[in-house]
Amino acid sequence: MEVIVLPTATDTASLAADIIEQLVTRRPDPVLGLATGSTPGPLYEELTRRHKSGLNFAHARAFMLDEYVGLPAGHPERYAAVIQREVTEPLDIPAGSVHGPDGAATDLIAECERYEQAIIDAGGIDVQIAGIGSNGHIAFNEPGSALTSPTRPKTLNARTRQDNARFFDSLDEVPKHVLTQGLGTIGRSRHLLMLASGAGKADAVAAALEGPLSASCPASVVQLHRHATVLLDEEAAAGLR
Ligand code: F6R
Repeated sequence: MEVIVLPTATDTASLAADIIEQLVTRRPDPVLGLATGSTPGPLYEELTRRHKSGLNFAHARAFMLDEYVGLPAGHPERYAAVIQREVTEPLDIPAGSVHGPDGAATDLIAECERYEQAIIDAGGIDVQIAGIGSNGHIAFNEPGSALTSPTRPKTLNARTRQDNARFFDSLDEVPKHVLTQGLGTIGRSRHLLMLASGAGKADAVAAALEGPLSASCPASVVQLHRHATVLLDEEAAAGLR
């Protein structure tokens, strides 16, 4: 695991964009793992700037980390809609190359198994972008998640729903259930790129990087990963020894 601390989230976004640029320029069939939430926003904006200057993503495939269960078709906060709006359309990644678990599937268990297999069939994820929740979650693997877990349905805990309420009109509208890549799924990515910014993440970052490897801090799986790069701004790194 390498940990890189830079002054601002703009700086970490630029370095993360360098890693993605290397991947998409060197590989004929790059597979990206995409996170939603606020943290990767500056990275996606930087990649969009580079795309406008000629960086090509037409050959890339993308797999989302997670999805809400139960949001109606057309809801702007469905992660499939967010990723399309903020990432794959701006980068001109063909819609047919973008995959996510379907939170509206009638059989959610079967849908998770299908998605896990789809990632394997694609040859696995080259670079998985991830944030970290203030309670130490990664993707939507909440505290207590098995370290080898596959893609599966999960229940969001109260703190995560509260954290995500800013994207909805009220807390009541935040879904209670999600489909998420598991900790085992994330562990199989070839390169895990974890980003964190802001003082609100400092405790979770310290627990994940310097605490024990533990299901009670799911993001601590970063310690186990064969190739993990953690990019932090100074505020998010403030709790590190
Ligand atoms: C989103 C995801 C979550 C977020 C985390 C941090 O796809 O998997 O784990 O990365 O909740 O969210 P932000 O970046 O909004 O603080």
